[in-house]
Amino acid sequence: MTVSTDSSTDQVREWARRHLWLHFTAMGERAPEAPMIVRGEGCYVYDSEGNRYLDGLASLFCVNIGHGRADVAEAGARQAAELGFYSNWSFAHPRAAELAARIAGLTPGDLNRVFFTSGGSESVESAIKLARQYHKLTGNPLKTKIIARMGAYHGTNMGAIALTGIALMRTPFEPVMPGAVHVPNTNTYRLREGDDPLQFAEAVRERILFEGPDTVAAVVMEPVQNSGGCIPPPEGYWQRIREICDEFNVLLVSDEVICSWGRLGTFFGCEKYGYLPDIITTAKGLTSAYAPMGAVIASDRVFEPFEGKSYPFLHGYTFGGHPLSAAVALANIDVLEHEGVVANAAANESAFQEMVESLLDIPIVGDVRGAGYFWGIELVRDKQTKETFSRRDIARLRTELGDDLMKRGLICRVDDRGAPVVQLSPPLIAGPEQFAEMEAALRPALTEAAERMGVK
Ligand SMILES: Cc1ncc(COP(=O)(O)O)c(C=O)c1O
Repeated sequence: MTVSTDSSTDQVREWARRHLWLHFTAMGERAPEAPMIVRGEGCYVYDSEGNRYLDGLASLFCVNIGHGRADVAEAGARQAAELGFYSNWSFAHPRAAELAARIAGLTPGDLNRVFFTSGGSESVESAIKLARQYHKLTGNPLKTKIIARMGAYHGTNMGAIALTGIALMRTPFEPVMPGAVHVPNTNTYRLREGDDPLQFAEAVRERILFEGPDTVAAVVMEPVQNSGGCIPPPEGYWQRIREICDEFNVLLVSDEVICSWGRLGTFFGCEKYGYLPDIITTAKGLTSAYAPMGAVIASDRVFEPFEGKSYPFLHGYTFGGHPLSAAVALANIDVLEHEGVVANAAANESAFQEMVESLLDIPIVGDVRGAGYFWGIELVRDKQTKETFSRRDIARLRTELGDDLMKRGLICRVDDRGAPVVQLSPPLIAGPEQFAEMEAALRPALTEAAERMGVK
């Protein structure tokens, strides 16, 4: 089927209206009007009406190399001609092996063993199971609990949703996996003067002691927490978390579903902050979403109880390591490396930061935070007191500001999980031209939002 901007658009809209169930979308009055994105090129996407948008969210933090790279997808087509599919259940195939070796060559330290999945939630779910089985095999069968952070999003499977620290997302499905417990995230915006930001790391230690160190299997955290508005770690946080995990034989899982493949200006988020996790979970930018794929990357230490043994990691997905996705991932990594895409993000991250920080003079902008190509703008009712908005006003902001930014040609996320934040996470090929375009949309939209909400 060809989707074009001619009369077939009406037909496609009708199909969507009648049959398509949108994810995380209330299928009420706004759903039929959901923008129909039909084409992408570089940093831009186009809707069925012919409008062009700057994809300031890289299509959910995914399209790191930008849109329209048919050559990357063609690597999948070539693979299909050779071997369309074989699974990784007790069989190997060349592309999965090549990709695993390529990934192991890029990861820091001894993160050398790659278990493929079909996406981020599956990666997190797999890491939970791996941590539990690891401890059972190494003589600590009671180590089953997982510590995650408040406000963080780790996916939708019943384990991953249990780690997700957003009550609203869990309550419809309770009871979720037992044994997931939460600690504060590292948002320092409302700390009082003199407060030590490393208290957030000590909270992890206190929680381990409270739960009982013999019962805690892993700590799962993002290098920069997405949900809540791109929350970076305070200086020294990750080093302290690593020490605490070592003290209690707790595995450190770096959930890099967003923060890997260049998002923070480094291939892996942990490299940005100089810590070495036991497990990395990844997806999204691994293929720049030209094919679905995720991975769990385990250290030699985590793999050791399985190495040369007669029992397996008792876990798998039919599509884990799919040859087409593996071929696409290899082509994507070629682009990230050899076309300097990750280097571009590293070279331009301070220009991006400058642009975002320049918005701080707008009355409604309370805080800007982030790293690399991953920034959040927190909106407040009162800059002096840092007072946030009421739930009703946040809902209003989300709709009105989101619509306004779209009208101005910018797709970004106006998030309301916790505080209201605007999130920016463009393809890593973006540069000063796109930063200027973002500012040209954000400045008037935020200024007018302040006026509408009576913020002075
Ligand atoms: C940190 C993190 N973990 C896990 C997930 C779940 O990934 P997926 O939507 O591919 O299942 C996401 C999705 O955004 C994420 O940001």
